[in-house]
Amino acid sequence: MPATIIMGGQWGDEGKGKLTDTLAASADIVIRANGGANAGHTVQTDQGVFKLHLIPSGILNPRCLSVVGAGVVIDPKLMLEEMDQLATREVSLERLRISERAHVVLPYHPILDGLEEAERLEGSIGTTLRGNGPAYSDKVSRRGVRVGDLIDSGALRHRLSHELPRWNRILSNVYAADPIDLDILFEELNSYGERLRPFVADTEPLIADALENEKQIIIECAQGAMLDIDYGTYPFVTSSSTTAAGACQGAGVPPTQVERVLGVFKAYSTRVGAGPLPTELVDMTGDLIRERGREYGTTTGRPRRTGWFDAVAARYVARLNGLTDIAITLLDVFDPFETLRVCVAYDLDGEIITTVPARADRLARARPVYEEIRGWQESTVSARQAADIPRPAHDYLSFIAQQVGVQVSLVGVGPDREQIVPLSAPPRALVTGVRI
Ligand code: GDP
Ligand code: IMO
Ligand code: MG
Repeated sequence: MPATIIMGGQWGDEGKGKLTDTLAASADIVIRANGGANAGHTVQTDQGVFKLHLIPSGILNPRCLSVVGAGVVIDPKLMLEEMDQLATREVSLERLRISERAHVVLPYHPILDGLEEAERLEGSIGTTLRGNGPAYSDKVSRRGVRVGDLIDSGALRHRLSHELPRWNRILSNVYAADPIDLDILFEELNSYGERLRPFVADTEPLIADALENEKQIIIECAQGAMLDIDYGTYPFVTSSSTTAAGACQGAGVPPTQVERVLGVFKAYSTRVGAGPLPTELVDMTGDLIRERGREYGTTTGRPRRTGWFDAVAARYVARLNGLTDIAITLLDVFDPFETLRVCVAYDLDGEIITTVPARADRLARARPVYEEIRGWQESTVSARQAADIPRPAHDYLSFIAQQVGVQVSLVGVGPDREQIVPLSAPPRALVTGVRI
């Protein structure tokens, strides 16, 4: 069973891009499964920093095929910009493939995203305004335009002339916004379609063939499980499936082919946009985490909200997705800390619970119950093997593994591709924190 899923275990930005790039070194294909240009995946190599939004993070590995899967929604303009940027940095796009079945983010989707957000007033989600929500809504409502339509001018004109009048009525009558001209829209999209055509393929049989030939496949998810449309903190979520099950669906890989589900977690919590974050720190500690972790959005530049590691949410995610192992990234951010806290339960209206309430308003009322662990107060940035990691840092990782119920297999100690430590040993003897 040659497929590995790399998925976010928290609220996104856990370091999935870096982990995908690392594991892609021994893979044949990396498939992006979900999301769109709302994602921002960073890979840092000796050629500098790469911020990928739509293109799989395997693209920097020359032997790896990079597939944009059917579950992704593609803004063709942003896709072409990203391709151009990579080409100017001498990254080959020869091994890039785009699924014909993927949906297109049309120019009116970001407009609608902005109008819908404005309409939500104080209930706004804080979306990335990339048009993802409206594009996925259109897909589910069967009003979408797919990549296969985009590259065929006849099909494109047919689909647009069918769908645009309704959106124009909504733009004019509901939002008092300007309608969109069909001819101008068609010309713009048709030109994108022509440029993208060489990269578009019937990728699903290609993936099935690769699986039959025991090729190693990585499925790269976007966002994180706590932003999942079904299992996240609804309605403060994204519009796609960010789970392991969703990864199979979006990538076109049968669940029976998956042998590893790697959950990526930061050593602490972050969230960008609105919605509950039970361990949020609105104080100097939160600021210190933000500054040390450079916690500003890869896509929007917004400061990320920060907090302690939430083991209740992590355990929920681990069980829901059948995580086989976890990566803990940004451990180095805690290097100077004297003590660390991990949330091991919630106090919800006086009741101690260890599960994540389904309703966001209840989760927002949950007060974290912490255990305190001592810090290591030395640098981990040059650690490359388990023995280089200080004992108290091992204890912190073991504590997390115990709480989450899944072994830690990889640890990030810096943004660079090289700054990663494999852990082969299972968590050490029981580590206890101090309940505070
Ligand atoms: P993704 O969306 O999950 O791919 O994550 P992002 O790229 O949006 O955000 C993760 C940020 O942390 C990026 O700036 C990475 O370069 C950086 N990063 C990843 N792993 C580590 C790590 O172990 N230590 C440090 N200091 N930075 C890291
Ligand atoms: P990666 O893949 C962090 C958040 C937005 C907002 C909510 C809905 O880099 O981890 P959307 O534009 O999807 O409708 O916004 O989801 N969000 C992310 N947060 N990382 C991401 O992607 C995100 N993609 C969406 O901030 O709260
Ligand atoms: Mg990101």
